[in-house]
Amino acid sequence: MTIKTEIRGHVGIIRMDRPPVNAINHDIRAGLIAALVALAEKASLDRIVLAGADRIFAAGADAGEFNAPPTDPTLPQVIAAIEASPLPVVAAIRGACLGGGLELALACPWRIADPSAQLGLPEVILGVVPGSGGTQRLPRLIGLEMALSMISSGRSLSAAKALDAGLVDAIADDAVDAACAADLTEALVRPAVRAMPAPGAAQAAVADARALAGKKMRGQAAPLVAISLVEMTASTDFDTGLAAERAQFLALRSTPECKALRHVFFAERAARLPDSLKSAAPNSLEKVVVVGGGTMGAGIAYALVQSGSSVTLVERDDDAATAAQSRVSGLFDAAVARGLIQVDKAAATLAGMRFQASYDGLADAGLAIEAAFEDMEVKKSVLTALDTAMPDAVLATNTSYLDVDVMASWLADPARLVGLHFFSPAHIMKLLEIVRGKASSDTALATGFALAKQLRKLPVMVGVCDGFVGNRMLQRVREAAEHLLLEGAEFTQVDRVMTDFGYAMGLYMTQDLSGLDIAWANRKRQADARDPARLYSRVQDEMCTAGRLGRKTGEGWYIYEKGADPVPNPAVAPLVDAEAARHGITRQPMTDDAVLNRLLLALINEAATLLGEGIAAKAADVDLVLVHGYGFPRFRGGPLFHADQIGMAVLLEQVKALEAKDPIVWKVAPLIERLAAEGRGFLD
Ligand code: NAI
Repeated sequence: MTIKTEIRGHVGIIRMDRPPVNAINHDIRAGLIAALVALAEKASLDRIVLAGADRIFAAGADAGEFNAPPTDPTLPQVIAAIEASPLPVVAAIRGACLGGGLELALACPWRIADPSAQLGLPEVILGVVPGSGGTQRLPRLIGLEMALSMISSGRSLSAAKALDAGLVDAIADDAVDAACAADLTEALVRPAVRAMPAPGAAQAAVADARALAGKKMRGQAAPLVAISLVEMTASTDFDTGLAAERAQFLALRSTPECKALRHVFFAERAARLPDSLKSAAPNSLEKVVVVGGGTMGAGIAYALVQSGSSVTLVERDDDAATAAQSRVSGLFDAAVARGLIQVDKAAATLAGMRFQASYDGLADAGLAIEAAFEDMEVKKSVLTALDTAMPDAVLATNTSYLDVDVMASWLADPARLVGLHFFSPAHIMKLLEIVRGKASSDTALATGFALAKQLRKLPVMVGVCDGFVGNRMLQRVREAAEHLLLEGAEFTQVDRVMTDFGYAMGLYMTQDLSGLDIAWANRKRQADARDPARLYSRVQDEMCTAGRLGRKTGEGWYIYEKGADPVPNPAVAPLVDAEAARHGITRQPMTDDAVLNRLLLALINEAATLLGEGIAAKAADVDLVLVHGYGFPRFRGGPLFHADQIGMAVLLEQVKALEAKDPIVWKVAPLIERLAAEGRGFLD
């Protein structure tokens, strides 16, 4: 039963009960109509209270139904039934009241929230607009400007802010009790939201919202459509606006953009402990050790202590321990400055952390994460020291590229080691690659997933290879870009086609930001294993040798001067020309389409290869890694979702053509051949 009803004195209570979030599907809609009809017949009642059964009102329409045509009763029909109800319906709102959930509440003449309530219309985040009156009712209730800022960005309001905005009428600790007892005199005389006067026009706010959406949700249709619909409320009657909204909602929900955003949304929801590890008992995370307090270790330690673990950070000497402490302290300062934590609480939490240069007193911690230098000798000294100091703990390495299986072989029990690959900044980025070594025990892996849960990160399990999923694909696309430069593309063109596609920043600008020396060190490490016949561009190495390491040295691919926008570095072109000549390549201009296509093919073919090798378990995992760790535009769904839009037969033909020209760099992934033969996509 997705709808439960209860009679409490003069009140009929309807509760939506579809865990975990009361996503509004056909059963809920049909149940609501039936309950409204049944309760309306009871002469003893003076009101109906609409609530969620547990800690949530309703988090929105069930996006799983978006692929099929709408079925009666639709949400607009339920909303019409609430508005037509002979008994006034009071919304008692606890927890999430989002999307279709808020649209239900907006149909009610009275809304009471408890302090946990979050109210919003986040549809644009899924590539659609509200489809059941949200864009038309909200501006009438709270004004055009406020409604615009919520609907065009998808942001929600807390109960207190919703009360200020006039979105709810009262806040009460128990919203259902308060709704049962509320004096409804005012509710009975005021017009339904649909009949409230049109809001005043706000042209400047509309223009600002368009500019912001163009910047923050560049390339996406839904936010701009939502803004136009909200704008309409100032000049159009309610029913006309409602019809326009419904038409736009139905059109948008089958666009590739909406499908892509839904794909990422469902991939995120599926990123959790796999069934195969459910019976494993994770180690306790009450006490955790972090070794190395540089960029990554400081961020990891900060995230851990903020999530409730007690943290000891081990550094190589006392000075380094002091430096690590001040790095963590800097993260607390930044959080205080942003109002995320009170200054006293920050000081107390920092004071509770231990920073030391020895491995003493660590034995009772359940997990250690090493984030020392990316160097096998350093990793060995750290992991063997941990092996002795923490005989019962799960040990983890945050290595970006190095071989987790080799590291495991240094331990008395190799099963204790797992890779936990965080992304920078570690306390902000949500992605966590959990690297399953050949020997990793279920306990070690389950501990990684438990950590992800505690830190509210998105865990993706990956296998051991150079760079795991994300960095391996990054290396491949970098190589493809280098080859494009030799053929005739410009690095500024590579960056431009990527930002036009939806990346926040292109490949070369990003390299400047993180520093060219990281990849340089990596290429040196890989030099011995590299096929000497593989086309290798020395341009980046020469940039590094000349000290052009990116932002930190004032120049890389671009030149950085204080107060000025970066400008392309003129030193690059002669290096590229000379390198092309060395390889006997005549550079020729390339179209933007050709450049984009090549970069995407490199990503897709590499993804298909590593999927075939079992490094990633499923296509959706690869998409999650690229969207959350490498800036692949969310509204494109990830490289493999995008690949399915291109079609497997086309992909096969294009990669084959590249393989014919350069069979060392381009080898058609066997998975692409198989799927093309079967007429299937990566996500079918
Ligand atoms: P970092 O150079 O900023 O910090 C490394 C820290 O380890 C330093 O504070 C150093 O004093 C300490 N350290 C070195 N040897 C040690 C030893 N024997 N015992 C204890 N501490 C020692 O490096 P970063 O960037 O934090 O990287 C650390 C690890 O995380 C590397 O394996 C790196 O590949 C990986 N990683 C880095 C990412 C990044 O974006 N920087 C992203 C993901 C992983």
